[in-house]
Amino acid sequence: MRVPMIIGNWKMNTTVSEATELVNEMRQELDQTGSVDKVICPPFISLTTVRELIKGSSIKLGAQNLYFTEKGAYTGEISPLMLADLCQFVIIGHSERRQYFNETGEVTNKKMRAALKVKLNPILCVGEKLEENEEGRTEEIVTEQLRTSLAGLDYLTGLIIAYEPIWAIGTGKAATAEQADETIGLIRHNIFELYNERAARDVRILYGGSVTAANTTEFMRQPEIDGALVGGASLRASQFLSIVKQTAETRRVR
Ligand code: PGA
Repeated sequence: MRVPMIIGNWKMNTTVSEATELVNEMRQELDQTGSVDKVICPPFISLTTVRELIKGSSIKLGAQNLYFTEKGAYTGEISPLMLADLCQFVIIGHSERRQYFNETGEVTNKKMRAALKVKLNPILCVGEKLEENEEGRTEEIVTEQLRTSLAGLDYLTGLIIAYEPIWAIGTGKAATAEQADETIGLIRHNIFELYNERAARDVRILYGGSVTAANTTEFMRQPEIDGALVGGASLRASQFLSIVKQTAETRRVR
């Protein structure tokens, strides 16, 4: 059963007090919006505070990254064990990590393994660059990223995949709902090939890239799209709430 899911990725935004304000602004309404899984991913330093603020609500917490070693002399890094203590989800392989911090597919794979070991639910991001899209290589790139990231891993219940075309992230130029649906269908087919029919039916695959309150419904009407990974629009309580509510109205449990 695939319950729709909306994830807010705050990226490197909000101080602890701004994070507190943002959560306070939307907590009650967000909590009351049913039939959608709601996850917020604030910066590491706000995880503890946000965790306290959403305690007892239906809002879930995620981190934006992790290091793949359990502990040790890795100055400045955050380990899977530290996160497992605080939250349930972790974003892995976001294109900004791949682009600005040179994260390769192998690193993404190590992070997937590390997350699974401590029972954190990974939100695995894949997506092609603009030139790859223009060259008609979307399928090839997304398939390659998926297979490298999942290499050697048994299918896990709770896997979440986000298809985020890089050219659509933070640009205000979202993919069309049909484009996103087609690639997400392809990802689902890959999961079928890698695992089995049940895995393909169960895996939740979200779209990400310039999702706003203005285009949410269009995406959620598509048969393959199970929700959204929202960046910019998740920093405004009213936008995020509207995205979640529209999803609840449009996209039923499948
Ligand atoms: P955006 O970011 O919604 O600001 O385009 C999406 C993401 O990177 O997860």
